Amino acid sequence: MPEYSPETLVYFENDFVHLRDAKVPILTHALNYGTGVFEGISGYWSADDQDLFLLRPDDHYRRWKNNCRMLQIEPALPAARLTEITAELIRLNHFQSDVYIRPICYMSTPRIGVRPDGKFQFAIVAIPFGVYLPSDAGIRACIASWRRIEDTAIPTRAKICGGYVNSVLATAEAHANGFDEAIFLSEDGHVAEGATCNLFIVRNGKLITPAPSDNILEGITRQCVIELARHEMHMETVERSIDRSELYAADEVFMTGTAVEIAPVTSIDRRQIGLGGVGVVTGKLRELYREASHGKIADYHHWLQPVYQPVMASLLKATPIEDPTLV
Ligand SMILES: Cc1ncc(COP(=O)(O)O)c(C=O)c1O
Repeated sequence: MPEYSPETLVYFENDFVHLRDAKVPILTHALNYGTGVFEGISGYWSADDQDLFLLRPDDHYRRWKNNCRMLQIEPALPAARLTEITAELIRLNHFQSDVYIRPICYMSTPRIGVRPDGKFQFAIVAIPFGVYLPSDAGIRACIASWRRIEDTAIPTRAKICGGYVNSVLATAEAHANGFDEAIFLSEDGHVAEGATCNLFIVRNGKLITPAPSDNILEGITRQCVIELARHEMHMETVERSIDRSELYAADEVFMTGTAVEIAPVTSIDRRQIGLGGVGVVTGKLRELYREASHGKIADYHHWLQPVYQPVMASLLKATPIEDPTLV
């Protein structure tokens, strides 16, 4: 779980400051009305490479900027520059462990009244992060009594702060009832996703996941799974609606997300899924995802942005080697 130190440096109001100094006033529009848009990005420490790899940071920042645009509060910096700031933040903190990065852009005016005035700020926080949801042996899920917000109410493909009340309510209910994770149905009764993750089933050798039009967040881990399944396992993913009872009938169910990674679901509503363990397809995808995100598969190096290597490379270039026999 995360360790917060007030000494951690964060990017706040266009500067690197200590976490303890990154504060917003009580009347901030986003705090009162949920008018912020956030992201979640993973960084994996590789002891073999002595480097920290950001996983698809440009894709996350592009999604963030698109989502911010829905609230008309888009930061002017391009995705590549936001990735550079994130790498710099990690270097300044000297992190040598897995990290979770939380960019957030929010309506910043401290004033009562919902009318937006176009003013916003953004911040990027990186913190050391352990296992978010222990899932090696599988997790127990339940169907939430709360329905997934509809895109006609709050854009569901955007990570809008206010929309996460939906996830908080479902998670609280699941935990109070002894489950690890909640699964949302949409208003029309089809499976949408987990409280903070997407959902896949394996049925008769097919990988199936709800389509974006089923009010899901278009997850980047979901996209990684679709790519890994296609290229490494020759399995195409079918994007279509899933019924509640089809979950119970599935051979395998798993959840995907930046924080949960790939979590096998071994029971839903106390009904065993498949053989009740980690399924073959899920197990293989977990292995591939772990290797790809840790720089172990050359074909997926383009997913990764190393944090320390570029600086080391430029230092080496800048230092002339006087005795070439020492190389
Ligand atoms: C509601 C919701 N669905 C799905 C996801 C998974 O998205 P990603 O894989 O991009 O982290 C998340 C996590 O960000 C989420 O909060």
